Amino acid sequence: MGSYQPMLFGTQRINAAGHLEIGGCDTVALAEEFGTPLYVLDEAHLRERCREYLRAFRARLPEVEVAYAGKALLVKALCRIVEQEGLALDVASAGELYTALQAGFPAQRVKLHGNFKSDQELLMALHESVGRVVVDSLSEIERLSRFAQTEGREADILIRVAPGIKTQTHTFIQTGQLDSKFGLSLSTSAALEGVKLALESPGLRLRGLHAHIGSQLFGLDCFQKAAELMVEFMAQVRERFGVVLEELDLGGGLGIAYTPEDTPPTIEELAEIMVGGLQHACARADYPVPKLILEPGRSIVGTAGTTLYRVGPVKHIPGVRTYVAVDGGLSDNPRPALYDAEYTALVANKADQEPTQPVRVAGKHCETDTLLAEVTIQPVEEGDLLAVFSTGAYNYAMASNYNRFCRPAMVLVSEGQADLIVLRETLDDLIAQDVIPPRLQ
Ligand code: LLP
Repeated sequence: MGSYQPMLFGTQRINAAGHLEIGGCDTVALAEEFGTPLYVLDEAHLRERCREYLRAFRARLPEVEVAYAGKALLVKALCRIVEQEGLALDVASAGELYTALQAGFPAQRVKLHGNFKSDQELLMALHESVGRVVVDSLSEIERLSRFAQTEGREADILIRVAPGIKTQTHTFIQTGQLDSKFGLSLSTSAALEGVKLALESPGLRLRGLHAHIGSQLFGLDCFQKAAELMVEFMAQVRERFGVVLEELDLGGGLGIAYTPEDTPPTIEELAEIMVGGLQHACARADYPVPKLILEPGRSIVGTAGTTLYRVGPVKHIPGVRTYVAVDGGLSDNPRPALYDAEYTALVANKADQEPTQPVRVAGKHCETDTLLAEVTIQPVEEGDLLAVFSTGAYNYAMASNYNRFCRPAMVLVSEGQADLIVLRETLDDLIAQDVIPPRLQ
């Protein structure tokens, strides 16, 4: 194998056959059995990430709640795992909430997010008694209060605050700055107005505040800064209204490695900075340390996912580059197109060989859907199997049926066993919602 060291995560390894193995399953055999493209989820790695969060934070603050952010990936089997690991769950729509409830996830451990929750979503939250509704605007506070009264229910709420922190990440996934659609701003009087309104609104119990400042973050300073700003604001609320808020949700955002150049902080490092920042800010403001809540998505599920593609035509353009076509692309992973996201790949059936061939990996959609713009992989030919790493978060969750592609299947692998957790869509699934009006018959 020479000096070549692939970037492997969790239970990934190269087996005696020279193939990539995940969860004790040979990926070549997985592709044969389940077809491609195929999302493969490493159960042991996923569980370990959940445990790492709980361990790192609870060692410093026993009361911490870790809520997995379902927007990264939410399917029923994953809800079961997250529940078994003792995490709470953050959902961002009626669809995510429904998925969680259908999987038997306890509603009390669910938080509902969204900058514009529909009436249906708010009513669903009230009827199902979800643990927290994270309100995002003044009008939503009014609407939720009105529904709580008409339905004879009460809602525990957090107020989403935009703390005015600009983070170092792709502009599309910065969320905590002033110029953002999310939350009530600290730097205008909106956040304070929100607190006043929430405290006066019948049917609502204001439990605390929420801030999520961005995603795929590598710097830890912004988390510390967020903790400080939020505690200062909580102290201001105490002074103004005589109310001590008990909970502070600092969102998700920890980055992961997509390429060997990426060196994200560890969960331990995040815990040290965040809890330290919180405790320090509370001491300074003489404020009781609130219950800390976190909402990691990508850093729990991201590196647990791998996508397997079958390699199609390999096109050499002398003096230009080599294109490798795979049997998926934009529809199963829109992130390169949306965020210039980079990935790492290897040829799964030749994983023990040196990567010597620079290529561009392209999808099979009717447009230039580049998946990996520049990557050096093992000498590749049609029929090989390509594994793309770190696809657990925001891949299946953002998948589409563009060009009427069927969305791929997903398997959960563990100790040599592979179980389907999402069936591959069929051609009939694609037309299931189509209607031909009688006048066109
Ligand atoms: N909590 C809230 C309120 C959020 O808005 C998000 C992500 C999270 C938690 C989880 O953040 P994470 O730990 O996963 O960074 N589609 C984009 C990412 C959008 C993230 C949106 N919010 C991507 O593919 O990079």
